[in-house]
Amino acid sequence: MTPQQLAALHQSAFTAERPWSAAEFEALLDGPHVGLFTAAHGFALTRTVAGESELLTLAVDPAHQRQGIGRALTHDWLSAITPYADTAFLEVAQDNSAANALYLSLGFAEIGRRPAYYKRNNAASADAIVLRRSLTLTDSTLSQPESG
Ligand SMILES: CC(C)(COP(=O)(O)OP(=O)(O)OC[C@H]1O[C@@H](n2cnc3c(N)ncnc32)[C@H](O)[C@@H]1OP(=O)(O)O)[C@@H](O)C(=O)NCCC(=O)NCCS
Repeated sequence: MTPQQLAALHQSAFTAERPWSAAEFEALLDGPHVGLFTAAHGFALTRTVAGESELLTLAVDPAHQRQGIGRALTHDWLSAITPYADTAFLEVAQDNSAANALYLSLGFAEIGRRPAYYKRNNAASADAIVLRRSLTLTDSTLSQPESG
């Protein structure tokens, strides 16, 4: 996917927050330690440094959500980093029930909060929940066949 395609998909998926521009995606992809996982209608962008991997963003085209794409992309990320990282983490808006359900089902657990972190268009800001999970080579979540 090109930075322009990533930005367009990101904008369609994140309706309540500021979309990331193509230039921002380009700069991230040019930087070190960044991983891009793609599928038809979705992508995950990650950064892995010194044994810790962060999910920078995950987006699935609204017309193709709830078809297992987000779970497959998250699974791809966790599987790819398991040899290189022992911890995965991410931030998610408190009111993002779909994403929270996905991450909790994959074994992530809350380790902190950033109050009013996500600024919303014409709405109250939302807290960011910091989620973390440890990774092991024998992790049963990662050895299961993908659902959806
Ligand atoms: C969050 C997101 C990536 C999920 O992608 P998706 O392809 O729709 O998700 P999947 O079909 O793989 O579903 C995986 C799990 O997520 C949860 N989920 C997904 N959509 C949901 C919804 N509308 N309501 C509740 N739970 C939902 C469920 O637990 C689901 O598992 P199940 O189908 O076994 O019940 C997608 O909704 C999206 O792009 N949202 C906008 C951007 C965003 O919030 N990104 C994450 C920021 S941290």
